[in-house]
Amino acid sequence: MENKKVLLDVKNLSKYFNVKGQDLKAVDDVSFKINEGETFGLVGESGCGKTTCGRTILGMYKATKGEVLYNGKDIHSLKGKEALDFKKHGQYIFQDPYASLDPRMTVGEIIAEGLYVHFPKMNEAERKKVVNTLLDEVGLNKEHALRYPHELSGGQRQRVGIARSLAVEPSFIVCDEPISALDVSVQAQIVNLLNHLQKEKKLTYLFISHDLSMVKHISDRLGVMYLGSLVELADSEKVYNKPLHPYTKALMSAIPVPDPDHNSDIENRIHLEGEVPSPINAPKGCKFVTRCPNAMDICRQKRPDFLEVENDHFVSCHLFQEGRSVEEAEEIQRKQLEKNAQIKLEEEKKKIAKLKENKK
Ligand SMILES: Nc1ncnc2c1ncn2[C@@H]1O[C@H](COP(=O)(O)OP(=O)(O)OP(=O)(O)O)[C@@H](O)[C@H]1O
Ligand code: SF4
Ligand SMILES: [Mg+2]
Repeated sequence: MENKKVLLDVKNLSKYFNVKGQDLKAVDDVSFKINEGETFGLVGESGCGKTTCGRTILGMYKATKGEVLYNGKDIHSLKGKEALDFKKHGQYIFQDPYASLDPRMTVGEIIAEGLYVHFPKMNEAERKKVVNTLLDEVGLNKEHALRYPHELSGGQRQRVGIARSLAVEPSFIVCDEPISALDVSVQAQIVNLLNHLQKEKKLTYLFISHDLSMVKHISDRLGVMYLGSLVELADSEKVYNKPLHPYTKALMSAIPVPDPDHNSDIENRIHLEGEVPSPINAPKGCKFVTRCPNAMDICRQKRPDFLEVENDHFVSCHLFQEGRSVEEAEEIQRKQLEKNAQIKLEEEKKKIAKLKENKK
């Protein structure tokens, strides 16, 4: 890890949307680094700010605050040729392959579109050759170049989306839920294709997903988002096998499919109660306080810092601050969960006793 080159350095990035005169904090002071050649996974529930984060990193949205350094340069301050170069280096693969492809254009035209902008000296024959090579690389063939998006299957359309992003020879791709709109049988093919292309072309990915169990298999490192903020970041094995933040623990324990790598058992499931608050009106202290089974007084008053609590393992939670070791913080969490389970059990017992009494 130490020897890896940082390709993207996201520093205190925020993106607010103005909604009826109020700030909707879709991304709120997020910091992380992506190393060259790695896949960085970004996970979290719907609406937590993953897409906004990915788009702001690529400059598709202007940042409200903070910086995105690409090879050391802030992408939001690039002008002229440098800005055009970054557009070529950073590409986006969309969740919905159908909506993202122009229905009036043939597959060949869609793939070649970026070539006109970034390789203006290329002639027709050269463009055709590039398109055919790309079709081959993504598992399609040259006959597909003449078809329209509606004449393809979902998996084929996503292959076209991938070919389009590869056409301009990028180095960094934001893959925004690229498989969630596809059949399960096709998902693995697209993941394998993305993995293969990454090795072949030395690509760096930001892989966005709401599915923790899937993204773990794809990512080298993983960031967990809640309500616009990063709550945990580490090696994906670590996040998966030893999550520390109460929110990540709840996400992990909710994974429904039996997974031999996943050691959480059903009795230890953490049920999250309550709704995700609005990003316009997030809680004043820790944003997770309204749903956290471990909430303390300080959590209602002060937003926790995002700190490195173990080597390359960052967590934003008061439990892991105040001079506590990771073991001590985990012990507090465990005892609190036991206590909560005991309270729940007592409540259930009382309910049953009341029902029995009413029956008499
Ligand atoms: N253009 C916009 N204008 C106003 N609010 C927006 C805009 N785009 C996103 N939002 C809001 O910002 C928040 C984050 O949205 P975003 O699409 O980034 O979430 P997400 O994590 O990608 O969700 P999903 O998993 O559903 O794709 C949400 O509350 C959303 O309603
Ligand atoms: S800071 Fe407090 S409320 Fe937030 S996750 Fe940690 S224990 Fe829970
Ligand atoms: Mg999204």
